[in-house]
Amino acid sequence: MRVVILFGTEIGTSEVVAEAVAEELSSFDVSVFDMADFDPADLDVSDFHIVVCSTYGDGDLPTGAEPFFEQLDATRPDLSGLRFAVFGLGDSVYGDTFNRGGEIAAEKLSACGATQVGEHGRHDASTEVRAKDMAREWAVTLPIAVLQSA
Ligand SMILES: Cc1cc2nc3c(=O)[nH]c(=O)nc-3n(C[C@H](O)[C@H](O)[C@H](O)COP(=O)(O)O)c2cc1C
Repeated sequence: MRVVILFGTEIGTSEVVAEAVAEELSSFDVSVFDMADFDPADLDVSDFHIVVCSTYGDGDLPTGAEPFFEQLDATRPDLSGLRFAVFGLGDSVYGDTFNRGGEIAAEKLSACGATQVGEHGRHDASTEVRAKDMAREWAVTLPIAVLQSA
């Protein structure tokens, strides 16, 4: 099973996180893509997907992830069977919109029939914990090995 990591970012933290997750999962066949350069038509339901996505504006997707999700909404591909996990980035100072970016990503993929697995990670930039450290710990809890042997 290939692991495809898609990151959506405004100023780059999610890219650093995506690379750290890739390193943590290096025993798998892992590829990392910026959502800004990834066509939803290239999603393969047999791959395991990890979405690393921050939050901008007023609880919105980061600019880098917008074209991907606009295209997904427009084409509504059947993603039944596709499994994905989400690690979201946000900042609790934003209150109600905390980590909405990753949640929107999960909602949009689920609306196309994909299934979210594992814990939904939510990094808070207001804490002392570095996003990439939290993401590494999160990555090892993902059920990829289980899915691979299923
Ligand atoms: C202008 C601006 C708006 C933001 N809006 C939100 C928000 O609505 N909710 C949230 O949880 N975080 C928000 N954030 C925090 C970012 O999501 C957080 O800093 C994240 O780590 C940035 O990741 P990135 O560098 O990959 O874009 C905002 C940050 C900025 C600078």
